[in-house]
Amino acid sequence: MPMPTRSIFLTQYVCGEPLTEEHFEIRECPLPRLQQDEVLLETLALSVDPYMRGCMTGLSTFYVKQFDLASPVYSMGVARVIESRLPGFSPGDLVLGAIDWSERSVLSAAQIADRPVGGFALRQVDGTRPVTQYLGVLGTTGITAYFGIVGTARPQRGETMVMSGAAGGVGTLAGQMAKLLGARVIGLAGSAHKREVLVDQLKFDAALDYRSSSLTDELQALAPTGPDIYFDNVGGRVSQTVMWLMRKPARVIDCGQISTYDDPDGGWKIDIRPIHNNALRLESFTPAHFAEFYPAARAQLTHWVDNGKLVGLESKYLGFESTPKAMVGMLSGANVGKAVVAVVD
Ligand SMILES: NC(=O)c1ccc[n+]([C@@H]2O[C@H](COP(=O)([O-])OP(=O)(O)OC[C@H]3O[C@@H](n4cnc5c(N)ncnc54)[C@H](OP(=O)(O)O)[C@@H]3O)[C@@H](O)[C@H]2O)c1
Repeated sequence: MPMPTRSIFLTQYVCGEPLTEEHFEIRECPLPRLQQDEVLLETLALSVDPYMRGCMTGLSTFYVKQFDLASPVYSMGVARVIESRLPGFSPGDLVLGAIDWSERSVLSAAQIADRPVGGFALRQVDGTRPVTQYLGVLGTTGITAYFGIVGTARPQRGETMVMSGAAGGVGTLAGQMAKLLGARVIGLAGSAHKREVLVDQLKFDAALDYRSSSLTDELQALAPTGPDIYFDNVGGRVSQTVMWLMRKPARVIDCGQISTYDDPDGGWKIDIRPIHNNALRLESFTPAHFAEFYPAARAQLTHWVDNGKLVGLESKYLGFESTPKAMVGMLSGANVGKAVVAVVD
């Protein structure tokens, strides 16, 4: 008798309107019998990430492929191997990779190769740390922040960096790293609590409300000659405002455009006049551009965490059923730090 498991499916593509928990369904599904080159996994923790919203629109223009409505959603996750017919993996191993939103799942070598999330295939991780760290500060979020700051923005001592999405997974880490390199960091975040965490706990130099009608004046007061760097996690109107205020010349690092992910045409159009007027260099990146340097990045992140120099804040949701809530909450600003689901506490 095949064992049943519970899995989460996206019930329809959602474009031009906000994603809600009602767009997901938990279904009981049979688990297939294990074949050669497959592993049976028990899911321990799942990540919810903004790029996943782009895989739920049905638009083929997104840079990651759309989720198949007939299969469970998947994301970065940590799992325990229960049974293995896949060379290199044994029962009891803890693994990190693109894992189904299922309590248990069978993953084949072909599926592993077809899911380039995070830029690597399934790999073992050690069990000495809280598993959610592998989805946050030591996972793709930390790696993204690291290559965004150390590899792309490259702040110099004394430079001023403004960062949108500052209280999120990437933002909290990228801001701390820019501070470690000697920059002055001004974060933009959507709630008073988030701004307090940025300044009081993470020692950002200042934090502002990006929805404030006086954002321009507040930024000019904090950076009268304009920021040297704008690290952009959100795009849209906020970024347009910041780019008009920058030093000439200065640089804009596009990490993400979350404010545009619900847009029906797949993206808010930017006005390039501030780029021209302020002689801005606009540069984007993904960690995949730096794949050769992953081991060095992981070693540096681990060193900073273990020495108390980098704090990996998490908003942790408990239980498998909370995964859609975590996803929708992350998109609407409920998280401080990395949003993760502890499927098994
Ligand atoms: N380049 C890459 O390879 C790469 C890799 C990972 C992530 N990213 C990008 O980096 C960004 C941050 O990702 P993350 O994983 O760290 O997510 P996150 O920042 O932890 O979560 C998303 C946050 O975005 C903010 N937000 C949502 N809608 C917004 C809007 N309309 N305007 C302004 N802010 C909005 C919310 O915070 P508030 O409460 O402050 O509004 C929310 O908490 C995303 O754009 C993502 O796509 C890029």
